[in-house]
Amino acid sequence: MTQTQAGAEAVAATCDSSSAPAIELDGVVKEYLAHGEVVQAVKGVTLTIAEGEFFSLLGPSGCGKTTTMRVIAGFEDPSRGTVRLHGHDVTGVPPNKRDVNMVFQSYALFPHMNVWENVAFGLKRRKVDRAEIRRRVGEMLEIVDLAGREKRRPREMSGGQQQRVALARALVNNPRALLLDEPLGALDLKLRQAMQIELKRIQREVGITFVYVTHDQSEALTMSDRIAVMNDGLVEQLASPREIYERPATAFVAGFIGTSNLLKGVVDRVASGCAVLRVGQESRVLVAESPGREGELLTITVRPEKITISAEEPEGEVSAVRGTVREVVYLGLYNSYTVALADGAEVTVFQQNALDSTSTAERGDAVWLSWQPRHSYAIGR
Ligand SMILES: Nc1ncnc2c1ncn2[C@@H]1O[C@H](COP(=O)(O)OP(=O)(O)OP(=O)(O)O)[C@@H](O)[C@H]1O
Ligand SMILES: [Mg+2]
Repeated sequence: MTQTQAGAEAVAATCDSSSAPAIELDGVVKEYLAHGEVVQAVKGVTLTIAEGEFFSLLGPSGCGKTTTMRVIAGFEDPSRGTVRLHGHDVTGVPPNKRDVNMVFQSYALFPHMNVWENVAFGLKRRKVDRAEIRRRVGEMLEIVDLAGREKRRPREMSGGQQQRVALARALVNNPRALLLDEPLGALDLKLRQAMQIELKRIQREVGITFVYVTHDQSEALTMSDRIAVMNDGLVEQLASPREIYERPATAFVAGFIGTSNLLKGVVDRVASGCAVLRVGQESRVLVAESPGREGELLTITVRPEKITISAEEPEGEVSAVRGTVREVVYLGLYNSYTVALADGAEVTVFQQNALDSTSTAERGDAVWLSWQPRHSYAIGR
């Protein structure tokens, strides 16, 4: 590349930052030294978050979610790798020079200030014009649905209201991206669910990128455009909620998101792109996608709600597995059955309690489980 070309590209990159992804992590590693030992909190994360996206980092405690966020926000420098915000390399740039704002689980409002003062704080400190402050704080309080409560102090409000003040306080600075680390962690379930819908609405309204950290899979599924499932410092799968649920890439993702059944079987034959697996005597599983080779041992997954229970052997091109009902649990909306197969493996089945439900399998019954070939497929590891 000539110097002129390189210069032109640099200029284009600067001017055209609107089309660049909001956040890019490239091979980010973060190591800590704790008591003379090196701890790898993040072991090599590469991901791209689009402008305006609601993106979640989901994973169990200690998998590196907060560390990844702190690296994006600039509170931590990566040990290796780079961070780009809107096309610019910001590795080493301090947090206050980055166009992102972070909201933490403990939202720490100023207790001696009322709602208005809490939200206006950042703008006042930056010496923003008074009329402008009035306009922006007013507008933000409308968006988070707290107009009329300007005079309240944090302790005079519910947890959900305080969380919305914290949100307004971050959004009023007009960040291009908002990083939220388990912001609903302190709220009870009902309020959490209400706030999830609220957060999604606010994100749509302000139209900026949200990066959301949670260890709650239903929360991530509810709100996100895309989810990165993290495990032990690495991203195991990055995809839409539907894809993560319907097509978990690894055994870890399958187990972490919802309930999943894993079955092992040997490929008996492959015909017209569909594999027939043997999973014990009389039982077969059909796999339509990436069916593998004859003789190969595959681990396949199938979700509990895709399975039908019947007394008779099912007919047609379906997976059909024999077992004995070990447990039936009534859960209102559906029944949960635990069915033991001949080899000892257990399969969970959810059957909806419809008005015309005829399914009456009971503990001890010998049953057949069946499902469509498209509902099971082989997974890695
Ligand atoms: N300052 C630190 N010094 C040493 N080890 C650290 C430090 N911060 C984090 N770790 C370790 O790095 C790993 C990842 O921590 P991190 O806080 O990113 O996890 P997390 O996914 O946010 O977990 P949680 O859901 O519990 O908040 C953990 O094993 C943690 O103990
Ligand atoms: Mg954390």
